[in-house]
Amino acid sequence: MSKDRATRGVDKAGFGTGKPTRSLLEVCSKLRPRELYHMLSMVFVSAWLLDSRRIHPAYRMTWWKKLKLAFRMCKNALRIRTGTSYKAHMAMAAKLLEIPPEVDGVVVECGCWLGGSTANLSLICDIVGRKLIVYDSFEGLPEGEPGDRHAKESAAGLFRGDLELVKENVRRFGVIERCEFRRGWFRDTLPRHTEPIVLCFLDVDFQASLHDCIVNLWPHLTEKGYVFIDEFMFLDYCALFFSERFWKEHFDAPPPGLMGAGTGVGVGQYYLGPFDWSQDPASVAYTRKDFYALWDYVRKDSTPRA
Ligand SMILES: C[S@@+](CC[C@H](N)C(=O)[O-])C[C@H]1O[C@@H](n2cnc3c(N)ncnc32)[C@H](O)[C@@H]1O
Repeated sequence: MSKDRATRGVDKAGFGTGKPTRSLLEVCSKLRPRELYHMLSMVFVSAWLLDSRRIHPAYRMTWWKKLKLAFRMCKNALRIRTGTSYKAHMAMAAKLLEIPPEVDGVVVECGCWLGGSTANLSLICDIVGRKLIVYDSFEGLPEGEPGDRHAKESAAGLFRGDLELVKENVRRFGVIERCEFRRGWFRDTLPRHTEPIVLCFLDVDFQASLHDCIVNLWPHLTEKGYVFIDEFMFLDYCALFFSERFWKEHFDAPPPGLMGAGTGVGVGQYYLGPFDWSQDPASVAYTRKDFYALWDYVRKDSTPRA
């Protein structure tokens, strides 16, 4: 990729300056201690996450295949500027490998930035034989809506990844044939979604965007379909999955809860929270269509107990 090409579509300060991809030589010469840790722990992460009797035998996941997948995911997350860790991608891979192949459904990604998470999801989609549908504005974050606690002023346009650049990254590092890209704002594109979904990955930052994703995609989730989110560090954000009001209003159902709310699910990271920039949250949180997280114990007898 020419330098010109590599930097096109990556503009806003903070989350956009710098090259979207790095060579392995650059990666190794500038490895920070955290990246080194994540790289060195790769063998253990693949062993712990993918050593599961729930992995469906139809996918024929030998140890060699598991290690190869972990290595490619780790390498991709180092080479493409990526907002999520390969450990988070491996957690999604582990769940996708549990879903029997006869369950019909696609994988959906909302929010792909430069395509790092897309490339890795496309690798696992290729193994499990599923299509990956990628929704993004390809113009970065939208303007914040009133009342959205996570929409910062001046954030509009951050994380912009040009569609052609995303495609090029997926072509180089993933399996582009598995992907379909749907461009536009979630509020316009997601209501037109029709396919059953076995897993969706929502990395969309703002509360209003999460709202659009859940309201439009949840009805398409299969019976035991998964929703993974990246913003697991923020309790007020995770609260959507525990909000009785939200689930009653939109689905007349109890809230499903969220595994890993606050600190993420265990993927070999060291993160105690609460969030500050000196820490290194490298996980994800998830829920499943059939989960139940309603506190329904009510004490009938209100006389004080001894
Ligand atoms: C944090 S980035 C995603 C990072 C990526 N998953 C990764 O691991 O590198 C957020 C992405 O969500 C997209 N996005 C956020 N809100 C959106 C909305 N309402 N409609 C369309 N795209 C949106 C942005 O364009 C951006 O690409």
